[in-house]
Amino acid sequence: MTSNGASGREDAFETIAVRAGRDDLTALGVHALPIDLSTTNPLPDIDAGGGSYEAIATGGHPTEGGNVYGRLWNPTVARFEEALATLEGADEAVAFASGMATFSATLLAAMNRGRHVVAVRPLYGGTDHLLASGLLGAETTFCAPAEVGDAVRADTCLVVMETPCNPTLELIDIAAVVAASGDVPVMVDSTFATPVLQNPLAHGAAFALHSATKYLGGHGDAMGGVVATSAEWATAIRPVRAITGGLLHPLGAYLLHRGLPTLALRVRAQQATAGELAVLLAQHPAVARVHYPGLPGSDPHGLLGSQLRGPGAMLALDLAGGYAAAQAFTGALRLFTHAVSLGGVDSLVQHPASLTHRPVAPDARPGAGIVRLSIGLESGADLWRDLEAALDAAVLDPSMAAQASAT
Ligand SMILES: Cc1ncc(COP(=O)(O)O)c(C=O)c1O
Repeated sequence: MTSNGASGREDAFETIAVRAGRDDLTALGVHALPIDLSTTNPLPDIDAGGGSYEAIATGGHPTEGGNVYGRLWNPTVARFEEALATLEGADEAVAFASGMATFSATLLAAMNRGRHVVAVRPLYGGTDHLLASGLLGAETTFCAPAEVGDAVRADTCLVVMETPCNPTLELIDIAAVVAASGDVPVMVDSTFATPVLQNPLAHGAAFALHSATKYLGGHGDAMGGVVATSAEWATAIRPVRAITGGLLHPLGAYLLHRGLPTLALRVRAQQATAGELAVLLAQHPAVARVHYPGLPGSDPHGLLGSQLRGPGAMLALDLAGGYAAAQAFTGALRLFTHAVSLGGVDSLVQHPASLTHRPVAPDARPGAGIVRLSIGLESGADLWRDLEAALDAAVLDPSMAAQASAT
């Protein structure tokens, strides 16, 4: 069980985020998070070393024999896991080298009860691709949220969903999917929400998964993934991580942990700007539709304010001019870096159908006119000037695209 230590459950998210995973620092006589880069660890004796190996390899924590080997256990990673588990209200968390490594290991751990997966679309393209490929031996039924009950079979081991969805920001009712799944565990990819805005386990999910590469780190300089879950599931997932070798690097764990104290500040500031931009973008004639949970009509199940504490800082535009408009628009922007990924302090733009969702089956792929924006910490007024100029110059009059991008 993860301890909240001195911060305690009654403290606000911001307070917990600053303190989580740091309870022992004063006793250690240090103030910053210590980094342990050991790939191997001295063993007190064969008995104790073997005992600890056994404990870790079967999913538990190290015993007096120590951490044994860097692929099995790392204390810097364990600190980050403790912090993230606290923020998600979970017993434990297990961290990996990427979001996809997290997903793969959790899926493999769940496959002890069958090989069938139900996956609610839309999903991040990489997740969709992994499941559709059958690479890990799972057979996947893709469906809409309302079809989950019909899709679940006796051999279903996992229901996979994302909310808000990448890239078009649909909100899916976690509790409804959990109810429709019966005793099958539900995994919620909560990357877009972060623990600031959503705690999937509080709505009955078995797993809250994050690509930590995104908001948790927040600065675009650390790859990682983490799943928050029960002690029982964590014990089942850790041996898969040890065998397959997906442990998060301790330097990554340090950077991701260092991102947590500013997570709420960043998410709320980025969200405030995204909300203002969504309203302005929706009025622009070049934009057929803005996908953003905070806009009227975007939350048919009334999840904003209950399941999701705020609409977040991701949005997608459906450009009236289709692919040509998307090409011109992304090329004309000055303050948005044209790059995949999201959740960092700087604003990014990308075209999901060509990039993040390229491997998705054509009938489930985002439309050619959709561009996804990750709103950063720049001034909202500056971002709007940039967006408006790119829409005006590049979309309404594509001949000016080259000129706009040259200035
Ligand atoms: C929603 C979501 N889940 C999972 C992933 C995969 O994470 P990673 O790139 O850290 O493996 C991504 C990556 O973009 C994502 O957007």
